[in-house]
Amino acid sequence: MTTTPARPDQEERLQAAFDATIARHDRIEPRDWMPDPYRRTLVRQIAQHAHSEIIGMQPEGNWIGRAPSLRRKAILLAKVQDEAGHGLYLYAACETLGVSRAELTELLLTGRQKYSSIFNYPTLSYADVGTIGWLVDGAAICNQVPLCRTSYGPYGRAMIRICKEESFHQRQGYELLMTMMRGTSEQRAMVQESVDRFWWPALMMFGPPDTQSPNSERSMAWGIKRNSNDELRQKFVDMTVPQAEALGVTLPDPGLRWNEERGHHDFGEPDWAELAAVIRGDGPCNAQRLAHRRAAHEDGAWVREAATAFAERSAQDRTEAAAPTTTGEGGR
Ligand SMILES: [Fe+2]
Ligand SMILES: [Fe+2]
Repeated sequence: MTTTPARPDQEERLQAAFDATIARHDRIEPRDWMPDPYRRTLVRQIAQHAHSEIIGMQPEGNWIGRAPSLRRKAILLAKVQDEAGHGLYLYAACETLGVSRAELTELLLTGRQKYSSIFNYPTLSYADVGTIGWLVDGAAICNQVPLCRTSYGPYGRAMIRICKEESFHQRQGYELLMTMMRGTSEQRAMVQESVDRFWWPALMMFGPPDTQSPNSERSMAWGIKRNSNDELRQKFVDMTVPQAEALGVTLPDPGLRWNEERGHHDFGEPDWAELAAVIRGDGPCNAQRLAHRRAAHEDGAWVREAATAFAERSAQDRTEAAAPTTTGEGGR
């Protein structure tokens, strides 16, 4: 990942052009000059996002073979396949910054790049499929809608496509939970138990509080991030409380109440020590998720080899076809 070094006077001009683009809320494109720390921050963020989509297939993928009906299976399969697609758009966006997907995969598999903490929690019942759609994809939407206006063009454009699909994910989850809430008392209890487990980890998806998020300010100055962690968390809580009421579930936070003065809900503090532990690798499923991803990568080696051989062969065929003929008859 190298850029040709610019002379100092040139560099000043380039930096000024970059700053002006950011100030106009315009997009930076791959061909544009950008400061190295901006590039590095983007690579880290987009890669982490791509890894989250791919690792995020596992918790729900766990239930595809045990879906309660053909309809539920079709919905879940479509959703999990969408997540694979999101991962691919994002790896492609990241590659425009001069890194390869193979390098990024290596960084994930060796634990040098992270993915979202939420996917290190287990899925213990089919209600979790609904809760993940409602809360986890719901939180992802809160995070991702502002990213459609992020300053780096390929990332913003990938997010526009992704957000359309995320809204389907959220709705299918909510619809599943609503169906279960209209069912038996056992089904209602399954939903409540699932919401109890996922509520706090979902709040942690927005990252540590603003006071403990050292890189946030710089990312906001660069227009990579548009809102702070705490702003987005608040937005998510305000959006989710009326949905929980409509569902008839209780959110497991005794401190949750409407604050007339602020015009927002007050809510309790997530367990930040738990978030730190999960990020460090000590969550309930970290080892399992990475082991599964490594095995899937090794199992797929033959596909990568075959695709590479096919691409080489096709390139060779094209070169031969383009070569002048010796028969003098031309041909086409
Ligand atoms: Fe996604
Ligand atoms: Fe999703």
